[in-house]
Amino acid sequence: MRAALLLSSKKLAEIKENKIVHLKITKEGENYAKNLLPELRLLKVLQEKETISISELLDKSKIDKKESKIALGWLMRNKWAKKEKENLHITDEGRKIDIDTYPPQVFLKELAEKKEIVAKDDSLIDIFRKRKKVLDISEKIERYIILTENIKLNEIKTKDKITQITSDVIKSKKWEKAEIKRYNISDEVKKSYPGKFHPLRYLMEKVRNIFIEMGFSEVEGPIIESSFWNFDALFQPQDHPARDLADTFYLKDFELGCEDREILENVKKTHQDGGKTGSTGWGYKWSEKSSKRPVLRTHTTAVSARSLRKFKPPAKVFTIGSTFRNESIDYKHLTEFRQVEGIVVDDSVNFENLLGYLKEFYRRLGFRKVRFRPAYFPYTYCSVEPEVYFEDKGEWIELGGSGIFRPEVVEPFGLDCPVLAWGLSLERPVMLMLEMDDIREFYKNDLNWLRAVKPSKLNLY
Ligand code: PHE
Repeated sequence: MRAALLLSSKKLAEIKENKIVHLKITKEGENYAKNLLPELRLLKVLQEKETISISELLDKSKIDKKESKIALGWLMRNKWAKKEKENLHITDEGRKIDIDTYPPQVFLKELAEKKEIVAKDDSLIDIFRKRKKVLDISEKIERYIILTENIKLNEIKTKDKITQITSDVIKSKKWEKAEIKRYNISDEVKKSYPGKFHPLRYLMEKVRNIFIEMGFSEVEGPIIESSFWNFDALFQPQDHPARDLADTFYLKDFELGCEDREILENVKKTHQDGGKTGSTGWGYKWSEKSSKRPVLRTHTTAVSARSLRKFKPPAKVFTIGSTFRNESIDYKHLTEFRQVEGIVVDDSVNFENLLGYLKEFYRRLGFRKVRFRPAYFPYTYCSVEPEVYFEDKGEWIELGGSGIFRPEVVEPFGLDCPVLAWGLSLERPVMLMLEMDDIREFYKNDLNWLRAVKPSKLNLY
């Protein structure tokens, strides 16, 4: 592209662009092609009745609850009806529409027969751009480079110019001799887009604000972590399956341990025989060497473990950060993902408060319905998994883990008060809000996708 643009700026060549729009009908689109667009189904009844109550209209046109919002929305947007209290009256525009030849409907029908077409961009497609889920629209730009006539290539003098400064250019000292191409900063920019946050970054900011509003302070911890803080301090036995190479990324050739000897000894005793906790521990010989193996932290709960050492009750802290697991990558899993972690260290809190904190957090994020399922984690008791109800899908979705840290976790830090803890997914709620079904989309840096993401979608209320 750069070479082509350079040629064209020197009038040695011309670039021609051809936009190709590829259309594919979706299941929903096929349904509309067969049974009419839902607003047309309403209009059909309305043309017959002239005035009708909304509930009767929905009933008569056999529009189900899911479609009713879309159908009524487009009916009003097209100005086919006027609302008066509970009744709808047809307008002149509505009367004029001939349902059988209504262009978007005809277009949809044709498309349903062909399934897939390559089209020129026109106003009909624009209509369907505004209504999602009916068509899959993808665009491609074909470019042709046409050499300007009467150019004698062998008469053009070229000079070696460096267009990109690479490490090789620096090491080989090529830059000393060759000319470095200047940026043309006065060139016109075709179309500019306002900057915006990546959706994950956007939600991170939002989550951060919510916890700060709820009186929490933010803490951070290292991404390269010792097994000690990632596992041992959380009373995860040294032969626990989560520590397996298949689940955890270990780093070679160096060691990382617990910097605090007293805490290390306490953790060791607790693992071996329960120490002062009254528990029997795991009943094995705890290995300091194994606690020194560095890992890419598998959860942000490692940061909470570190916080137990730093904070005395009452304390409320949270962290948002990257975590890593040795997963095979698919539409649901990545090797790197983000968690939102928090703890409340306070003599006066209990299990009910834990559920309350989580409910309040999700409420502020926009999820009205939250429920909890019993769960198991080696470091908490009782343990629950919060689930939110996602209206659009009509489903309950699990979003993370939580519980009250076990005495075996808090006692080695000299704490004997309840510590509420949770670790929640950051990606999952964003995927729900944006109706994404592939987690890889986040990291593809697909500009079209990024531009199309509407921040308003990330504000559920
Ligand atoms: N660390 C757990 C996970 O990654 C979540 C969790 C955090 C559970 C804190 C309980 C307490 O799934």
